[in-house]
Amino acid sequence: MSVPPASAGVLATTLAGVALRNPVILAAGCAGTLHEFDEVLDLSRVGAVVTKSITPLPREGNPTWRILPTRTGVGMLNAIGLANPGIDAFEREYLPRAGEGGGGGAMPCPIIGSVAGFSVEDYAAVAASFAQARGLAAIELNLSCPNVKHGTEFGASPPAAAEVVRAVRAVAPGTPLFIKLSPVAPDIATIARAVVEAGGERTGLTIGNTIPALAIDVETRRPLLANVTGGLSGPAIHAAAVRSVWEVFNRFGRDLHGPGKHMPIIGLGGVVGWRDAAEFILAGATAVGMGTALYADPRSPLGVVRGLDRWVRRQGASSLSELVGTLRPE
Ligand SMILES: Cc1cc2nc3c(=O)[nH]c(=O)nc-3n(C[C@H](O)[C@H](O)[C@H](O)COP(=O)(O)O)c2cc1C
Repeated sequence: MSVPPASAGVLATTLAGVALRNPVILAAGCAGTLHEFDEVLDLSRVGAVVTKSITPLPREGNPTWRILPTRTGVGMLNAIGLANPGIDAFEREYLPRAGEGGGGGAMPCPIIGSVAGFSVEDYAAVAASFAQARGLAAIELNLSCPNVKHGTEFGASPPAAAEVVRAVRAVAPGTPLFIKLSPVAPDIATIARAVVEAGGERTGLTIGNTIPALAIDVETRRPLLANVTGGLSGPAIHAAAVRSVWEVFNRFGRDLHGPGKHMPIIGLGGVVGWRDAAEFILAGATAVGMGTALYADPRSPLGVVRGLDRWVRRQGASSLSELVGTLRPE
């Protein structure tokens, strides 16, 4: 694991011990397997990249159709089904591209390795490989994929989620760890508390994933996705994700590690512009992810970085971190 230095600036932040030059992160599954986005976006200008979720064995994913725009144009439905090369091929063919994960290596920003699985052992096996990898700055556990059978079960049960996190911590003791939860998990604060307590130091949350959804062709009366259901993402889910971040932050994330040292949260869901990102920050997120927006405009993160920078200055703050969780009461 390597923790690169961030450049000075109002947007520089530290996330569970990982220094980021700014808080804008390319979300899992939306920026290639690891390095591919480097061709369309200058990755030295974003905070970090999350890899595609990797499982122990390769997966082809679900049959097509497995990705659809929503009719309103403000969202996407996907049921990719965790298509990925599997951990062996990932280590062989992709990890060498990560370099040192931020300055000096092949990739000019920290890389967060995303892990998916169908058992506690699956998560622990992939996390153990990631923890040994020099090019990865942190691990994200995808406990909330709605597009595969049993994909959301771990993330819906506090004891089951905590068991996965304990097993991962046993093989990745010092590694910054993010647990990715559904933004519509019932009682998300209870699940969040269970996983953060199980992970201990350097554990944070990513809130959240897509939400379960169904689109229908009304002429044929068939589902539009081959998997029948999929996950909805994009602006349609933004406000729900902001609320979940706010709820977790206020229930126990604020000052968790001492005055001003909040629980690290990556707010994710429907960020297309800087205002969406700023909402997440005010609700209690330390960083923000972007997924669906990258499909419409792969360079949109740069506008979000610029807009946040100006917003921080307009607010009279000396750094973005000062604004985390500062939503004013009505
Ligand atoms: C096509 C597609 C593939 C995705 N694949 C993954 C994945 O492999 N692992 C994961 O944790 N999330 C995955 N996600 C979820 C995103 O990382 C993100 O949580 C979600 O899309 C909400 O953010 P957004 O509204 O900015 O897209 C995927 C999303 C999309 C649209």
